[in-house]
Amino acid sequence: MSRRVRLGVNIDHVATVRNARGGAHPDPARAAEQALSAGADGITAHLREDRRHITDADIDVLSALCRRADRPLNFEMAVTDEMLAIALRHKPHAACLVPERREEVTTEGGLAVAGHEARIQPVVRTLSDVGIRVSLFIEPSQDQVAAANAVGAQVVEFHTGRYCHVSGTERAGELERLKAAATQAHALGLEVHAGHGLDFATAAEILVIPEIVELNIGHFLIGEAVFVGLDAAIRRMRTAMDAASSGLNA
Ligand code: PXP
Repeated sequence: MSRRVRLGVNIDHVATVRNARGGAHPDPARAAEQALSAGADGITAHLREDRRHITDADIDVLSALCRRADRPLNFEMAVTDEMLAIALRHKPHAACLVPERREEVTTEGGLAVAGHEARIQPVVRTLSDVGIRVSLFIEPSQDQVAAANAVGAQVVEFHTGRYCHVSGTERAGELERLKAAATQAHALGLEVHAGHGLDFATAAEILVIPEIVELNIGHFLIGEAVFVGLDAAIRRMRTAMDAASSGLNA
């Protein structure tokens, strides 16, 4: 059965390159505009506690840009009072709650929802109450899916880092784990997204999981843009995803 899976483009690493020189170029807002015109369904940005890439000013501009373009901004945030206040000020279409440790290079694992329900549930409720769609970035495991449902999230985004990192039988095993978690989440009424480390091949392959309705992809697309341009990289990803979700090979 053919379906159109949404593509959220994460533009954090445009800001990483900009910040390497401390100036204004390359501008993440320009990348967001280009991403939308190339076929991205929405923009994803992670305002980290240490502001290593996206800044508060970027979020101001991206919020206004997405509102003008009538496209969703997916605001990735740690579960902190500071980030909650920023989300409530901007009221993005969506907030994705992620774990954050200062010393990590990237978001290295999923949010531990199981065991931390008391901390996470009020944040989910506060965001949901003002109309922000709340997603929890979790490992594809049974206890995390059950906990995400218990705290009232509308969406789970499965961390695909491990799946993308391993190969052979280990990759096949990870795909099975993702399938089982997607089936469980869907049965509970949760919307299923996936992201982290995806490239053309893994993004296409993972769409054998019919419950997935959105992928969020950043690092690979921004890296690929160095060689082919952002527009071409996103168009190729769109084509790969469309082909995979209609049962064809790109
Ligand atoms: N989804 C979430 C929740 C993330 O934290 C990230 C990385 O910031 C991504 C998707 C995108 O991962 P990548 O940059 O590896 O494509």
